[in-house]
This record gives sequence, structure tokens and C-alpha cells, in this order.
Amino acid sequence: MKNVIISKEEIGRGIFRFNIEEPLVASKHRPGQFIILMVNETGERIPLTIAGSDPAAGTITIVFQVAGKSTALLSSLEAGDRIQNLIGPLGRPTPIERYGRVACVIGGVGAPYVYPILKAMRDAGNSISVFLGARSRELVIMEKELGEISDTLSVSTDDDTYGYGGTVVDLFREALGSGGKFDMAVVVGPVGMMEAACAVTKEAGIRTMVSLNTIMVDGTGMCGSCRVTIGGESKLVCCDGPEFDGHLVDWAELRHRLGRFLDQEKVAMNLYKKSIFDRNGIK
Ligand code: FES
Repeated sequence: MKNVIISKEEIGRGIFRFNIEEPLVASKHRPGQFIILMVNETGERIPLTIAGSDPAAGTITIVFQVAGKSTALLSSLEAGDRIQNLIGPLGRPTPIERYGRVACVIGGVGAPYVYPILKAMRDAGNSISVFLGARSRELVIMEKELGEISDTLSVSTDDDTYGYGGTVVDLFREALGSGGKFDMAVVVGPVGMMEAACAVTKEAGIRTMVSLNTIMVDGTGMCGSCRVTIGGESKLVCCDGPEFDGHLVDWAELRHRLGRFLDQEKVAMNLYKKSIFDRNGIK
């Protein structure tokens, strides 16, 4: 049945992978595209990248980290449960070309986003070097899957619990310093990390693509929330992106706009926690 969760797995602390039965989206999906889902009738619309699709099985894969009320609610669903609404695939597919040596710098939960893109880039004849960063070891996800489709893979953790001790941008900078040469960089992760990585690639003269999907709200071009400035021009991430030239992004404006809903998100999360405590008689 459409929108039913086939399997659920916690692949990192608070990071979940769902396989969902959704034949139409599975048959149309291209790397870089996303879906919008609503967990229940009154739920918020959540934009989530399609981390993979299997047209033969009619399934898609999503990976998400619990970051607020809606993702907490989504994580409470189990295999066999049905997601209320799901639309997609949305957004422009990633242009897959033969770039040559591609460096992929990943932070936070960027791995599921970039996995289908790198797979397609590898199939197009590119060599792939992955720099996979996380705050701590238990947040490192999809290392094995990324390792299978890349020529080299190095991992960093901010707290030095696994791999290189430091940020993934430091790791990438060191690789460049030791002679690493790249024709193209794909940078995906938290905004601060992408901004820092783009400063490094700009200095090194490496063409860079970033994904700005974290700013989306309704995902259909109607709310205007995802407006960004790229090379002085106003763009909507959900319709014109989600990928853009990282050297043209107005990062200061993007940082400012990302903070707009923080207070409302905190209130919603607190009310959600209270409702769970009340239901379970926890004081
Ligand atoms: S997310 Fe609403 S217009 Fe793009």
C-alpha cells in the first residue's frame, strides 16, 4: 500500500532510515530530488531528500535526524505504519557529468542526500573522494555505503572519537595541503560547515556545488520561505535548486533566514514532550 513504512532502522544516534512503499516516486526519482511528507493530518510539511529508490520494488529510502517535534513524531512510527501524505519527487535533479576528480565534503546528516548523487557520478566515470564528518562517532552514518562507491574515504569527528580529530573542513583542507587535486567539489551539511568549505574551495579554485535544502518549508514554491540570493539574484531553493554554486551564495543572509523559526520550533517540541509525559503519567 502507498506510503507504508516497509522497514525502520536507527543508523546513528537519533538518525533513522525508513524504506517506504511509494512506487510512483520510486519510478520517477533522480539523484538530488526530495519529497515532502506530513506525518498526520495536522502535521507540518517536512522536506526530506530521497536517499535512494528501487523502482522494481516500488520503494524509496529516506534518512532523517530527530531535530524537532515533526521529526520526533516521524521517528515514533514503526514498520507497517502509514505516512499520512507524501509527494514527490520534487526539485531539480543534480546535473550528472564527467567532471573528473570529485571531492565530496559531508557534514551532519548530508550522507543520505549525497549518496545517490555520488553513485551516479561514479557511474558517469568520475573518481570520487569522500570526506565524511560528524560531531561524534555515534553520528557517523553510511560510512560503509559511501566507501563502496568511492575511490577514497576519510572520516573526521569533531570530538576526536573516530578517524581524524577535527572538523571535516579541516580534514579536507589538509588533504588539499598534502597535494590532493580536485576538479569539482560537492559540499553538503550544516550551513556554517558549507560556508567554511566553500571558502576553502574558492581559494583552491575548485568549482563547488552545495545543497541548501535545509531552508525549505512547503517545498512547492508557494510560501517564499526558501528565498536565497545567488550571485545577486533572488532564487527559491525548492524550485530553482536545491543545488547551487557555493561560491555565489549569500551566506550571511541564509544564516539569518535559517534562524527565523527557532522560537516556534522550541515551543512545539516542548509541547510535544509534555504531551508524551502527560500520556505516560510522568511528572
Ligand atoms: S519552500 Fe516554500 S517557496 Fe520554497
